[in-house]
Amino acid sequence: EELKKEIEGYIVGTAEELEQYRMKFISRKSVVGDLFNDLKSADAEIKREMGRTLNELKNLAQDKFKEFVSDLDNKATDQKLESVPDLTLPSAADQLGAQHPILATKARIIEIFERIGFNLSEGPEIEDDWHNFSALNFPENHPAREMQDTFFIERDPDIALRTHTSSVQVRVMENEKPPIRTLSPGRVYRNEAISARAHCVFHQVEGLYIDENVSFKDLKQTLYHFVKELFGKDTKIRFRPSFFPFTEPSVEVDISCNICKGKGCNICKYTGWVEIGGAGMVDPNVLKASNIDPEKYSGFAFGMGIERITMLLYQINDLRLFTENDVRFLKQFKNIK
Ligand code: PHE
Repeated sequence: EELKKEIEGYIVGTAEELEQYRMKFISRKSVVGDLFNDLKSADAEIKREMGRTLNELKNLAQDKFKEFVSDLDNKATDQKLESVPDLTLPSAADQLGAQHPILATKARIIEIFERIGFNLSEGPEIEDDWHNFSALNFPENHPAREMQDTFFIERDPDIALRTHTSSVQVRVMENEKPPIRTLSPGRVYRNEAISARAHCVFHQVEGLYIDENVSFKDLKQTLYHFVKELFGKDTKIRFRPSFFPFTEPSVEVDISCNICKGKGCNICKYTGWVEIGGAGMVDPNVLKASNIDPEKYSGFAFGMGIERITMLLYQINDLRLFTENDVRFLKQFKNIK
């Protein structure tokens, strides 16, 4: 009776425990086996009585054993299933990449100018002399052409990698009538040594506005608006006289350093100001070259480097980071819009 209870209450969790159970209740040398041995020498009367009880015990022990074996078996398959991926489940979300900071900045610049009526224009990166230089009032054999360290593909007639996206604006002026309000973002090339501050491939956004009575104050106000939208309300703007063949007068555009707020840092070289681009009133010769009447129309143009602006926005101190594709750099831009 006691043995019966013990067998019924027995729990087996591992293969080892199963073997212990077998030794104890089933094998020849088990308690049950011993009892069977004892039976041989018992009286006939008791033999029958005991024999039935012992057989019941034996059957119970064996049924229990089978039960344990199949439980252990199920457990093993469950464990196996857990370690095998279930291919019918919906897949986990992919690890998404981050937008490249240059593209993100380009999109922000475009958005600001689109809201004030500029459209987008694009053109080829391989340009002829006319669109990159001559139509923009660069005189033949003039040192101004060397100002832009051009990568030439062919000479006479010259074909080159465009040195600025002003070439796109020439194409717009040739094909459209004023009013023209266009923004030309794109990749440009200059034969410069690669360093923390310069690269032979970079990105520009140039803008062109041509209509009747466009004046310098329109240029100032447009850039003023842009700078406040991109860098924040407190940003100041300053113009310095400069020279470009295609604009007269020409200026270079500085903004107050948004990193040290004028206190002085090595980004603004302790001047409190950083240059973001060039601008000016479109030279009448440029309008004439594209068959726009300079007596009737006037315009302004501006151009800036997207890399430079991105560096100011995110306090990046080396231009080369943009082209090295180091994921440790790129993944920091996961959460920017
Ligand atoms: N095209 C000039 C450059 O690449 C920038 C610029 C554009 C300057 C328009 C004035 C007006 O350096």
